[in-house]
Amino acid sequence: MGKINVGLIFGSKSGEHDVSLKSAASVYRAMDKEKYNIYLIGITKEGRWAYCNCSPESMESGDWLDYEIKGAKINIIPSSGRRTGIELSDGSLLEIDVCLPVLHGPYGEDGSIQGLLEMAEIPYVGCKVLASSLAMDKAMFKKIMVFEGIPQVDYECTTKNEFERNKDAIVERIESNLTYPLFIKPANLGSSVGISKADTRDELIEGMEIAFSFDKKIVIEKGLDVREIEVAVLEDGDIKVSAPGEAISCADFYSYDAKYLAKESETIIPANVNPDQISIISDLAKKAFKAIDGNGISRIDFFIENETGNIYLNEINTMPGFTKSSMYPKLWEATGIAYTDLIDKLISVAMENHAKSSAYACC
Ligand SMILES: Nc1ncnc2c1ncn2[C@@H]1O[C@H](COP(=O)(O)OP(=O)(O)O)[C@@H](O)[C@H]1O
Ligand SMILES: [Mg+2]
Repeated sequence: MGKINVGLIFGSKSGEHDVSLKSAASVYRAMDKEKYNIYLIGITKEGRWAYCNCSPESMESGDWLDYEIKGAKINIIPSSGRRTGIELSDGSLLEIDVCLPVLHGPYGEDGSIQGLLEMAEIPYVGCKVLASSLAMDKAMFKKIMVFEGIPQVDYECTTKNEFERNKDAIVERIESNLTYPLFIKPANLGSSVGISKADTRDELIEGMEIAFSFDKKIVIEKGLDVREIEVAVLEDGDIKVSAPGEAISCADFYSYDAKYLAKESETIIPANVNPDQISIISDLAKKAFKAIDGNGISRIDFFIENETGNIYLNEINTMPGFTKSSMYPKLWEATGIAYTDLIDKLISVAMENHAKSSAYACC
């Protein structure tokens, strides 16, 4: 078999642009260049696509656009006799066997780019449109988890419209159904962007206003004193769940700064949890991944409440942080799959799944 043409897509309009650059640079460094032709496709913060030959260092530093070769776009309608692929600004075509969208947050992890790649019939790594969008939207995700009977912390949802029309009633509803401290989150974001913790009504209103500056829909949760336990899922026909890891934040909660800027936040792998807890978490992870109809990859995050030992599912990240030292790859490393092999596995699963689904489409 010849080399596989991989479109490594990074950046994007999401608030998690910089996190994507770090993940993608790390993936690019680790990928076997004998096995893959790697086409680097960056998306700027404004949403412009560029094909470039940047180094991983320039990706990480944000200087990758200096290495642009040509503008790029997905060619969703192949001209006759041509394969689909990524079309460049001069009309030439990069023939792509599989895309690896190392993108986090809106536009990357929410089903948008997945839909674009579906239209173009290009195989891609990870969850499809439905699973991506369900896992991205915290409000919709919680509804599915309720339906499946998967435990999660008590919550309320509201919209900007509702809040602007009837602020007092909304605040009263939240206060009568939940107790402080509260966590206020934009429904469609990640990396803790726009999330705040409130101990008082004033802080709640302020937190809601912050969250509404990111999204028109928000989620308010009862804040618990918790340990944060995460597992990695790898699906290749079977759903495999890794050993658990624990994320320990240096801050009051696992904020953006605590996740990416502070040195003191750490991960403990394997997490010090007992076999019963491992078994419950692993079963819930499989059930939740199935419930959203996941594919390929996800990191599933849980809370264990310190006071009660209760286990709650917090969220599914369908394209988790993917630097060599991120939780997802480290969890697989601890479970026996090295970083480079993990990337190979995800790519081969994506290509096999695509071949299978194309076979169905023909019948
Ligand atoms: N209900 C909660 N109780 C306690 N801590 C919480 C709660 N919800 C969120 N957090 C804290 O905020 C962080 C970010 O919340 P999360 O829902 O994971 O959002 P994101 O999708 O941005 O990662 C969590 O890792 C945790 O530290
Ligand atoms: Mg999280």
